[in-house]
Order: sequence, then structure tokens, then C-alpha cells
Amino acid sequence: MYGTAWKKESTTHLVELAVSAGFTAIDTANQIIHYDEGLVGKARLELERTGIRRETLFLQTKFTPTGGQDHRTPYDASASITTQVRQSFESSLEHLHTDYVDSYVLHGPYSRVGLGEADWEVWSAIEEIYESSRAKMIGISNVNPAQLDLLCERASIKPMVVQNRCFAVLGWDQEVREICRANEIIYQGFSLLTANRGVLDDPEVQKIASRLAASPAQVVFRFAMEVGMLPLTGTTNELHMKEDLKAKDLELTSDEVQRILELGSS
Ligand SMILES: NC(=O)c1ccc[n+]([C@@H]2O[C@H](COP(=O)([O-])OP(=O)(O)OC[C@H]3O[C@@H](n4cnc5c(N)ncnc54)[C@H](OP(=O)(O)O)[C@@H]3O)[C@@H](O)[C@H]2O)c1
Repeated sequence: MYGTAWKKESTTHLVELAVSAGFTAIDTANQIIHYDEGLVGKARLELERTGIRRETLFLQTKFTPTGGQDHRTPYDASASITTQVRQSFESSLEHLHTDYVDSYVLHGPYSRVGLGEADWEVWSAIEEIYESSRAKMIGISNVNPAQLDLLCERASIKPMVVQNRCFAVLGWDQEVREICRANEIIYQGFSLLTANRGVLDDPEVQKIASRLAASPAQVVFRFAMEVGMLPLTGTTNELHMKEDLKAKDLELTSDEVQRILELGSS
């Protein structure tokens, strides 16, 4: 999946480049500090002009609570949370020039511990969007194991997607991945490269990369797929886009996967 955070005015160009390189899934958020959802929509229109139809792309965006926004909230920040979600979602559809998204994700719970009233209200509003069929999947990001367990247990509609930053030093987010596996949730890992510089420099990973005539970045992406993740890449480089996609064709041995898995705990 191609991630569009921090691309600023290059967003349109980079999304078009990513789709030409072969990406079919695009991640964004209605959060002006880090993303430009409108420019993702502009790319979508340009792509449509070249024959890339809406249905051939997987578009994912997010509702970002006020704590993750600056003063430019894409909704009335003084309105109820339910209204905020509805307004943010409508504005996402306008930005993306579409009448549905493939996945709608809560950018993160309201607090680091447990789930409070605000989280349940936001989730109900997201469930309502799912029930209207204007989001084909719904999910949550930046979630810890206890929160995900609670959501899976008590929500009327369970999350179908989880998007988390994946640190090797934290066991590659093993607990959350286990919950995802048990609940048939797609685990999307982000910052796989930026959060794991040490792994890229690790002699073991470099050795595997040279065996495969690949780069350490490709090895990390292939490893992520082997353990059941859908990796996001945030590259701005056309060659890296192609390399990141090619990672799916690499073949790691089960021993290599195990050794990379253990890098986090060593
Ligand atoms: N839910 C959330 O809260 C949240 C937070 C952060 C990010 N995200 C999502 O995750 C996406 C990816 O995040 P990220 O940018 O941190 O991910 P990333 O892919 O780990 O990091 C991007 C960095 O990796 C480099 N890179 C990528 N492919 C490479 C390759 N084949 N060889 C060498 N370097 C390579 C890029 O450099 P080049 O540009 O030079 O290739 C760039 O410096 C974001 O765009 C966003 O959609 C979500």
C-alpha cells in the first residue's frame, strides 16, 4: 500500500507515479498537518483521465480526532463526535472525488489506556458509515493490544483493518498481530523502514539481501508479508517504488524469517 503522508505539494505527482509503478492501494487521512487528501483526489481524477477507473483502486482514509489536528479541522470541532465523523467523512469523499472509500480508519483512540466514551461514540459513527455501504471496510490505527481486544469484544461491528507503526524492538507488534490473526483483521504495518533503522543495518539482514540480490529494505518488506502484514511504503523515489513492489516476489527461508523475527528480541 502506498502511503501519502508528508508528501505536501508533491502528493499528486507521487500518487500518479506510484499507480504507474503498480500500486493499487493508497492510504491517506483527512488531517492537514500530515496529509493532503485533496491532492490525492486530484491524482485520482488525473488517473481516471488516463483510464484508471475508481474501482481498480483501493482508497483508504482516516478520521482524525481533534487531538491529532491543528486549527484546520475538516469538521466543526465544537460539534458532537458523531457530527465530526459525519462531516469529516463527507469532506473526504469530496476531496477524493468518490462516493465511497474502500477502507475508513479511526486514526487513533482518544487516550493511550483503554477505550472511553469518546472512543465508543466515534466507533458507532464509523459503524454507521459502514452500514451505509459508503466504506467497504472499517478499522483503527495506533491501537494497543488491550484496546484492540476490547474493541473486538464489544463493538457491534469489529474492525476489519488495523494500521500500526511496527517496531522490531517491540517484537514487530506481535500481540496486536496475534489479535488480528484471531479476528481475521488485516494488519497494516507502517514505518517498517523508518522505525527499524537498526534492522536495515543488521549484518544478518544484509547477508540475506545479498543472497537474494535485493536491498535490506526489500528484505524487510518481504519479511513483513511472510508474517502476515500488509506493508505500507512512504517512498518518494520511483526506483524504490518498483523495488518495494518487487519485494513480494522474494523468497525467504523459514529460518531467515525466524531470524528477522528474533532481531527484535535480541
Ligand atoms: N496511521 C498513522 O498514524 C500513520 C503514521 C505514519 C505513517 N502512516 C502511513 O504509513 C505510510 C508510510 O510511512 P513511512 O513514510 O514512515 O514509511 P517507510 O516506508 O518506512 O519510510 C519511508 C522512508 O523509507 C525510504 N524507502 C522506502 N522504500 C525504500 C527502498 N526500497 N530503499 C531505500 N529506502 C526506501 C524512503 O526514502 P525514499 O523516499 O528516498 O525512497 C523514506 O525515507 C505513510 O505515508 C502513511 O500513509 C500512518
